[in-house]
Amino acid sequence: MSAKINWTLAALFALTMAANFAVRPDPDVPNIDYLPDMAHSAAYASFSPNPILPEGKTMQPPVPGTLPRGFTPLHYQATPEDALRAGAELKNPLDPEKAKARGTVVYQNFCTPCHGGAMRGDGAVALHGFPAPPNLKGEKSVKLTEGQMFHILTFGQKKMPSYATQLTPEDRWSVIAFVKSAQNETAGTAAAAPGPAVAAPPAAAGQPQAAQEVKK
Ligand code: HEC
Repeated sequence: MSAKINWTLAALFALTMAANFAVRPDPDVPNIDYLPDMAHSAAYASFSPNPILPEGKTMQPPVPGTLPRGFTPLHYQATPEDALRAGAELKNPLDPEKAKARGTVVYQNFCTPCHGGAMRGDGAVALHGFPAPPNLKGEKSVKLTEGQMFHILTFGQKKMPSYATQLTPEDRWSVIAFVKSAQNETAGTAAAAPGPAVAAPPAAAGQPQAAQEVKK
């Protein structure tokens, strides 16, 4: 037996639906906006001009004396005295064995151009006239503490630029762990002594540098 349809009710239902659409022209827009200022607040993009905030900028500088989350302040200046103080006070927070893998990658990407793959100061940039860095396995560099190296990577040292913007603190400590372990591996071997391989880069570098100066 098929079910009976109440045609009166069906017609009323269809009529209600039709009326519903008839009185509401755009179904995408709600009929009533409650607190329209809140429903449609003016959104500003980070870099868009802003009539309300100081200097007409949306993005505001941090309040002096505040720190971003996850940022550890470094209470040192870019001076040789503070490099020594950092050397005495700062310790590598990373496990050297675990940090070495990442440190190898960082060294290859950021340091080899000047310091060279074997750390002798004979990277491509040095061979093309940039003042050659010292042999990182030489006596003086081996004596640097990890804290001093962190200061060098953060603030630079003479011709060596700062790597603070390129490398996170963690990457700086990783590459330091790598350099230290490479230094320890060769400590006491011939590579630790500054040999001809160290003296060669500055001599080779002299020519292109002089040529460059003449051109200017
Ligand atoms: C643009 C070339 C350049 C790059 C890239 C570079 N260095 Fe240097 N680095 C130098 C020069 C030049 C010196 C010598 C600075 C001086 O005269 O005291 C130096 C010095 C150093 C010293 C101090 C050595 C000492 O005995 O005083 C350390 C440690 C060092 N660099 C580590 C690194 C590490 C780690 C990286 C990679 C993150 C790196 N450097 C990338 C050029 C560079």
